[in-house]
Amino acid sequence: MRATVFDGIGLLYTADPAREEIEDAALVVQDGVVSWIGRSGDAPAAEERVEVDGRAVIPGFVDSHAHLVFAGDRTAEFAARMAGEPYAAEGIAATVAATRAATIPELVANTAVLVSEMTLQGTTTFETKSGYGLTVEDERRCLEIASQFTEETTYLGAHVVPPETTADDYVRTVTGPMLDACAPYAKWVDVFCERGAFDEDQSREILAAGMKAGLRARVHANQLGEGPGVRLACEMGAASADHCTHLSGADVAALADSGVVATLLPAAEFSTRSPYPDARRLLDAGVTVALATDCNPGSSFTTSMPFCVALAVREMRMTPLEAVRAATSGGARALRRTDVGTLRVGARADLVILEAPSYVHLAYRPGVPLVAQVWQSGRRVV
Ligand code: NIG
Ligand code: FE
Repeated sequence: MRATVFDGIGLLYTADPAREEIEDAALVVQDGVVSWIGRSGDAPAAEERVEVDGRAVIPGFVDSHAHLVFAGDRTAEFAARMAGEPYAAEGIAATVAATRAATIPELVANTAVLVSEMTLQGTTTFETKSGYGLTVEDERRCLEIASQFTEETTYLGAHVVPPETTADDYVRTVTGPMLDACAPYAKWVDVFCERGAFDEDQSREILAAGMKAGLRARVHANQLGEGPGVRLACEMGAASADHCTHLSGADVAALADSGVVATLLPAAEFSTRSPYPDARRLLDAGVTVALATDCNPGSSFTTSMPFCVALAVREMRMTPLEAVRAATSGGARALRRTDVGTLRVGARADLVILEAPSYVHLAYRPGVPLVAQVWQSGRRVV
């Protein structure tokens, strides 16, 4: 197949620890993967040429945590919160009712809009979950829809206990018929391990059942308060503990020892006006940090990874380098992927050309549309 050289890259951020940043760089793509990286001028001949004109190139963002399949709107809840109401997970019920009432074409169309927003903002790999159906058939169809858009699909039947049933009955459903119906469409199993959702024993049972069915674990952990979620994620060998907003010293140590990725979701803290997670404490302890949007209609209705990078830098004291690393290779680690999130020879040619000389501008120029071009598997999509 024809090769394409991206030449005149002012600053190439590869996210590859072996050679993380290269000034005045070029990159060659062949058959959808990166085939060469080096200095501008040294690149091998290629049939096609993209002139990057001194701008920066980064890997496509890997958004490892989103809830895209839903219907309905929670504008009033957000407005009330900004007027002083606290965030409570009870709002999930409103989205569940609207999602159950929606047709499949409506849910597909809603999801497609959010996916296209993601792409326009430089996301080339994303995860998405069920969790707004909460019946066997509603969870199944949400996951089937999710699987039309991404291979990173997560079964989150254990989002909350729906009002029409008891916790014990619901855990039996989640670990039984609902799991059987959903597992064919899911790669991951998740549980909202939090006061008001699922406790430690229920969460362990749900994760264990999912893993027995061949799914891999990830956990909504320690979002609204300290609790067992992070420790459970480490105990179960989850790929990632997500949120990590309220952590004890033991939680930080467990993350560092286990290699479980801490996925931070600062847009949720922004949209719920909550304290941000202590990213510095995690990074200083050697924990791998990922950044993701948590896109959902309740706690974080954004699809923008650049916004999350800017929040992480300004509000969580991550350096721009740490934030962009967390939004690319960090997200890939949270999904246990080695083919995306990094620009190195053999990796998928997912890259973003920024309308800026450096990735630092993602934080320095917040809210500005800096994504000039997006390439996915070597094909231009934006
Ligand atoms: O990740 N924490 C649980 N679930 C979502 C929010 C769900 C909602 O409010 O609709 C989250 O923040
Ligand atoms: Fe979430």
